Amino acid sequence: MANFFDLTGRTAVVTGASKGLGRAFAKALAAAGASVFGLSRDQGELDGAKDEIAAAGGVFEPFAADILDESAIQKAVARCLDRFGPPDALVNNAGLGRVNKPFEEITTAEWRRTVDNNVTGTFICSKYFGLEMIRRKRGKIVNLASMSGLIANKGVHCGPYEVSKLGIVALTRSLASEWCAHGVTVNALAPGYIATKRNSEFFASHPEFTRQAIAAIPVGKIPTPDEIAGVMVFLCSSASDYMNGAVLVLDGGYTIW
Ligand SMILES: NC(=O)c1ccc[n+]([C@@H]2O[C@H](COP(=O)([O-])OP(=O)(O)OC[C@H]3O[C@@H](n4cnc5c(N)ncnc54)[C@H](OP(=O)(O)O)[C@@H]3O)[C@@H](O)[C@H]2O)c1
Repeated sequence: MANFFDLTGRTAVVTGASKGLGRAFAKALAAAGASVFGLSRDQGELDGAKDEIAAAGGVFEPFAADILDESAIQKAVARCLDRFGPPDALVNNAGLGRVNKPFEEITTAEWRRTVDNNVTGTFICSKYFGLEMIRRKRGKIVNLASMSGLIANKGVHCGPYEVSKLGIVALTRSLASEWCAHGVTVNALAPGYIATKRNSEFFASHPEFTRQAIAAIPVGKIPTPDEIAGVMVFLCSSASDYMNGAVLVLDGGYTIW
């Protein structure tokens, strides 16, 4: 039987690969055989990701760039082509999180920073890496939405984040409807709460919120990035070839109530 999840010989681009979910996705994709081209603004943390992946026998090429900087992303595409060839998969993971302020206290600058970084940054990376996929008539794009794009989160203030993630859902469907004709599928992953370093610090300083959040998750726990990273192998592999425009919810059941 074919190994639907084998990524040997494929190139996967992961934005925000320096830490958190992006780093876990990069590790999982490399472990499945992909050559991973990882972007973020922090060269030092990217180098750490490279060392960690190399120690496990994987291949990872770091590239420091801001996803909002169009010319830097064009240079990233050129470097990716030079190093690995055209991308088979693009994981638009880089994003800013919650500002944790009620609407009436959010500044316009904070609003713009979150929406611009999360939505416009995803558009820019999709456009320039996607052009290479369109040229080959083959590719898979996975955008990081969130359950926060599907519901209003209880007990935390994250208005601009929720708006940006619903924007990602719309961008995913819109791109999926246009680019399928070019052989490129576009899907979104919508995780619930994941115990990244940043979130774990928040959970530790908000024990009552965390107790209630875990009580609302039927599976009864908040997973680590490594525990959920395998789903990205599925989304970047031929196992998911018939998926297009889908939003895969990965929240332990938080949104089913
Ligand atoms: N953690 C969760 O519970 C959760 C749940 C649902 C969805 N998500 C989504 O999953 C994605 C990753 O979240 P995370 O929790 O892993 O966040 P994180 O730990 O804060 O990591 C964010 C990553 O994005 C990069 N990044 C942010 N803005 C960037 C920019 N303008 N240019 C280049 N890189 C940029 C950061 O790199 P540098 O700072 O080094 O540049 C970092 O690598 C986000 O899209 C988030 O919305 C997370």
